[in-house]
Amino acid sequence: MLAAWLSSHSKSMTTTTEPSIRKAWAKAIAQPAQEFAPTPLPVLSGKIPEGLRGSLYRNGPGRLERGGARVGHWFDGDGAILGVHFTDAGATGLYRYVQTSGYQDESQQDQFLYPNYGMTAPGSLWKRWGKSVKNAANTSVLVLPDKLLALWEGGNPHALDLETLETQGTDQLGELGEGAPYSAHPKVDPKTGEIFNFGVALGLTPTLKVYKSDRTGKIIQQGSVPLDGLPVLHDFVLAGQYLVFFVSPVRVNLLTAGIGLKSFSDAMEWQPAKGTQIIVFDRETLSLVSRGETEPWFQWHFSNGFVDTDGSIVVDFVRYADFQTNQYLKEVATGQTHTPAKGTLYSARLNPQTGKVTQLNELLDKACEFPVVPHHVVGQVSPVIYLSLFRDGADISQELLGAIARFDRATDTLIVADLGENLYPSEPLHATDALNRDRGWILTVVYDGNSDTSEVWVYNSDALDGEPACRLGLPSVIPFSFHGKWKPAATNGQF
Ligand SMILES: [Fe+2]
Repeated sequence: MLAAWLSSHSKSMTTTTEPSIRKAWAKAIAQPAQEFAPTPLPVLSGKIPEGLRGSLYRNGPGRLERGGARVGHWFDGDGAILGVHFTDAGATGLYRYVQTSGYQDESQQDQFLYPNYGMTAPGSLWKRWGKSVKNAANTSVLVLPDKLLALWEGGNPHALDLETLETQGTDQLGELGEGAPYSAHPKVDPKTGEIFNFGVALGLTPTLKVYKSDRTGKIIQQGSVPLDGLPVLHDFVLAGQYLVFFVSPVRVNLLTAGIGLKSFSDAMEWQPAKGTQIIVFDRETLSLVSRGETEPWFQWHFSNGFVDTDGSIVVDFVRYADFQTNQYLKEVATGQTHTPAKGTLYSARLNPQTGKVTQLNELLDKACEFPVVPHHVVGQVSPVIYLSLFRDGADISQELLGAIARFDRATDTLIVADLGENLYPSEPLHATDALNRDRGWILTVVYDGNSDTSEVWVYNSDALDGEPACRLGLPSVIPFSFHGKWKPAATNGQF
């Protein structure tokens, strides 16, 4: 499996102690983030909406340095979870590292010990050989009725306490097997509560495994198809009765990587001649419906998918022309980027029976990422997409995402919240108002590079171009996070 394969590869860990800081964003990741215990958060402006009751959880790499060495890639950082509980008494925040066994070992010895996505363990090759990869637990979360899962696509999820964020250990969801990959982008059907996810397992033949869980997270059904090599498969979509995967033409060079000369990330090759493979599963049986192929591109993330009235599948995603985005994300960990990688919002229309793309349109010609839709429309028609953008005029080779926006694909309307110079918002998460279901809020964690502080901002989802409804101060800097979830107080976890 991927985790096992990752155990013995590569050499790209850097040894620079201090990252270079040319842009304000670099300060947010210059030092390892500090945990904090539950802390009442001051309201800096506005007021907490009465219909916003529940918990915001966000996951991301909190530590990119250990014992004077820096990680090889942004994706290598140890996962830390920010929790913000909204109650009638106000908002309380806490921030905790996921206590993986690798994190605990490295804390004890104050040095990196394990290989990861873009780095190897220190020492000579024979010392590294056979060393297990560290589960970074740093990519996203899944809210279950009785626990929070910290997700990382190369291994088992970690279970945490929903209130205290105390790590309870790895969780195999009944069926995964020790160390088996469970990816960081599960899809929860808003009507049935079923949870769909996947993992790429490496054996003699790399295999795409798909999982269906009940609303408690327990895996109740599995399916699989063989793959031609080891791809980078980060996300997928639930679209009506289908699960759809786009396998971009990136493959890990197992010959190069196999002798331990390159990291997993550095051994990835862009092979455009392969095209992008389309794989369509039936969500009821988890059996293969079709496989097709189309032009080459790369995507990390989908916003959503649905089945249109003519029976075709529509999938929206952020499309890159190639895999330069991985190089840009690697550079982020150094505090200074120079590789441009423009991803824009696209929509693909597919024939589910053939897996063929019948139409491919760019929806929005702006560099963007982290497209999300409200939970209640996952897998269904959903005209509104929230996403992160670069600010107008930003040099995308040097900057990080500096704005969030609401895009209406039905009316082709974009409403932007530009937070200002040196302010960096996280992925915009939607929370439905508990008192008025037609109303929603957008939550984003903002790093203010002018004051070197972090805040939680709440916007009216229909008024991103106005002032935030509320700003809450956080006790210390929260480094940029990848993904999160909103758990409404009214439900018992599942959402
Ligand atoms: Fe992601």
